[in-house]
Amino acid sequence: MSTPADQLADEHQDSVERAAALLAQSHYCIALTGAGISAESGIPTFRGKDGLWTKHGEPPLNQYEEFSADPAEWWQNVAERRRNPDELTATIANAQPNDAHYAMAELERIGILKHIITQNVDGLHRVAGAQSLTEIHGCTTLLRCINCNTRSPFDEIPEIFPPRCDKCGGIVKTDTVMFGEPIPPDCLQRCYEESSKADCVILVGTTAVVSPAADFAFAIGQRGHPMIEVNLDPTIISQYCAVAIHDKAGELMSRITAEVKSVLADDSA
Ligand code: OAD
Ligand code: ZN
Repeated sequence: MSTPADQLADEHQDSVERAAALLAQSHYCIALTGAGISAESGIPTFRGKDGLWTKHGEPPLNQYEEFSADPAEWWQNVAERRRNPDELTATIANAQPNDAHYAMAELERIGILKHIITQNVDGLHRVAGAQSLTEIHGCTTLLRCINCNTRSPFDEIPEIFPPRCDKCGGIVKTDTVMFGEPIPPDCLQRCYEESSKADCVILVGTTAVVSPAADFAFAIGQRGHPMIEVNLDPTIISQYCAVAIHDKAGELMSRITAEVKSVLADDSA
């Protein structure tokens, strides 16, 4: 008798093996991850069937303008939200990494994955143990100076609105990148450096439609290197990928990582 898990295993086995072979052969593989990798941690995605924006519409595009116009008032609102968190804020604050985050941390630990660029602000890659990581859209648990980009933990509501940077006196905001806000230049630089070195990229849980994050992954493909996709639904990049597997990231990334380890063990035998 076969269980649903067996059927899933059979359906994707060939693709899992091909993805693992590409990863094992690579010299410098990086990853781009998005909201889909945190879906199994209970955090809703933006787009797609149950996406936040599909249900509630996109947020206003002038968030950074509003912040810049009156940072003190913006901080009042942040403080109020922190005292009375909405459902999404509370969900992110309580979320734990899932199998996909742990599998990717393991891929890094065994020397295959060299860097993760994540578009997620939930910090779950870090909690799962990822070391080489760029949170290109920031992280909810950090503060950042808009002048010198110095980051610090966001543990408590600051006493003065807006708080000022200890190093340069610049205005401090939360690290998460708002609509209309430039991506912090240090993040862009790191993404550029890491993707320039890459000879393989694995995209996990992202529609890959948001620039500049997706551009770093495409650039690797355009240089002729393999792109691997692990995503619930097909995306605009599926057709360009050497391997595209469409199912949940938790189980797939665990299987791919186990397969990579088995290939490496065979190679060294
Ligand atoms: P999206 O919401 O656009 O896409 C999430 C993708 O994850 C979809 O393609 C789903 O099919 C897939 N997915 C859902 N559940 C999954 C699961 N269990 N396993 C694997 N895949 C699953 O999210 P992103 O591509 O991350 O930026 O969106 C990119 C950026 O758009 C976000 O960072 C956000 C927004 O602009 C900012 O807020 C700055
Ligand atoms: Zn500063």
